[in-house]
Amino acid sequence: MKYKIYVVDDDKHYSRMLRYRLERNVDYDVQVFSKGEEVLEAMSTPPDLILLDIMMPGIGGLATLKQLKETHTAVPVVMVSAQGVIDVAVEAMQAGAYDYITKGQDEMVKLDAVVKNVLEKVSLEREVSNLRGEVKKRYSISGLVGESEPMQDVYKTIEKTLRGDLTVVVQGESGTGKELVAKAIHYSSGRKKGPFVVVNCAAIPRELMESEFFGHEKGSFTGAHARKIGKFEQADGGTIFLDEIGELDLDLQAKLLRALQSYEITRVGGNDLITFDARVISATNRDIPEMIREGKFREDLYYRLFQFPITLPPLRDRGQDVIRLSNYFLKEYLKEHPEFKGKKMSSGARRAILDYTWPGNVRELKSAVERSVLISDAEEIQADDLMLFDRVQISPWAERVALARAGEVGLGRMQPDRPAISKGADSSADRASGIVLGTGEQEILSLDDLKRQAVERAYKLCEGNVDRAAVELGIGRATMYRLLKKYELMD
Ligand SMILES: Nc1ncnc2c1ncn2[C@@H]1O[C@H](COP(=O)(O)OP(=O)(O)OP(=O)(O)O)[C@@H](O)[C@H]1O
Ligand SMILES: [Mg+2]
Repeated sequence: MKYKIYVVDDDKHYSRMLRYRLERNVDYDVQVFSKGEEVLEAMSTPPDLILLDIMMPGIGGLATLKQLKETHTAVPVVMVSAQGVIDVAVEAMQAGAYDYITKGQDEMVKLDAVVKNVLEKVSLEREVSNLRGEVKKRYSISGLVGESEPMQDVYKTIEKTLRGDLTVVVQGESGTGKELVAKAIHYSSGRKKGPFVVVNCAAIPRELMESEFFGHEKGSFTGAHARKIGKFEQADGGTIFLDEIGELDLDLQAKLLRALQSYEITRVGGNDLITFDARVISATNRDIPEMIREGKFREDLYYRLFQFPITLPPLRDRGQDVIRLSNYFLKEYLKEHPEFKGKKMSSGARRAILDYTWPGNVRELKSAVERSVLISDAEEIQADDLMLFDRVQISPWAERVALARAGEVGLGRMQPDRPAISKGADSSADRASGIVLGTGEQEILSLDDLKRQAVERAYKLCEGNVDRAAVELGIGRATMYRLLKKYELMD
């Protein structure tokens, strides 16, 4: 298969020379354009490589590059610069150019090497994308976005999990898409017509967990007013997703192991053995082998649950996927909010997205993109609108607080610090936007009130992300759930 190369240069002699030189290789098919505008129009059939002159009349090389990168992130662009415009070439690299060469005979050798190198990469990617073709079709229903190499590995493993009914564990940092992957497996499997049942092992108090899993008979304990069907029974014929599996205590681990050995359960307070037929997928962001070493997780249960481990890479290791995902989230958001139609990311915003480390992974990206739509004043979303502050210097708290306030004043301008909120004037809107923990100087708060405020604010400012809120507060996730329940912030 031939490689298609577009050469864009207003200097006809030079482009003719390039074409001649490149077409010595019979695999290269070169097409010449003399303006940026022309190549942009031709992008309905994208080439494998673009050689783009920097100095051109009309929109110029740099602006052409930026537009190309908006619509065709994956097509490599090599900039061609005359001597003396090196700093523009550097800017072009920052805007996503693959490489640059300077015009001149001695650079022709470099040209050959760069073109060969790029096209070798393209051919590798072609192979991968052929392999991926089917997988991509299959998972597009479940909305898994991403084409980077580590995600290819994930897709391949997902595909293997579909060959049978073995247990799967999805591991990865918070917000990497563990639940989404579990759903993708369920909805791509033969069980898709059955239920997809989620149990969050961190969200349910220990005493109620067994009944949550296996159900209970009427009167089996105080408060058991009626028979309850547990999640395993509910998941019959489908998939049960055990989220935060690392939070299960040892006693329940033993009961779960028993259930998974025989695919039979007994309701709490009951005698009958009830069989269930459900695919078990679990998820964790804990280091389970380490927990085994510490005696906190049963090794035999580990082998039961970890038949197919899938590890989701953190977003910072997914290269250009971060741009694909932000385009996707922007598009989805605009679909639901047509009043913002036409908003798009500026190249500065895209650069900021690529440079940021995304500690909260895909979830953080999604909310940053959605928030930026609301915050930006112009059609193009700027880097600042994403509010990706340097977390070492500015605490995420400050960011969230600023946000909550911006929301209150109609989005956009930040307000100067408001006085701290006193207990008397404690409306819930005020509580969400207050910056200082505690009260005005005149009041004394009980420690428990302070704790409640801290938990409530963290929860709100982290937009309901329990994991993140727990990290901000410096407490464990299970404790966070317990406190949210205690203060009736979650049912
Ligand atoms: N590859 C992806 N494509 C599209 N959306 C994604 C992708 N990965 C994650 N998301 C979205 O990001 C958000 C977080 O994903 P999800 O809840 O699956 O993460 P998680 O790993 O289970 O997080 P946690 O550890 O906090 O439970 C969801 O809105 C999900 O739809
Ligand atoms: Mg999750």
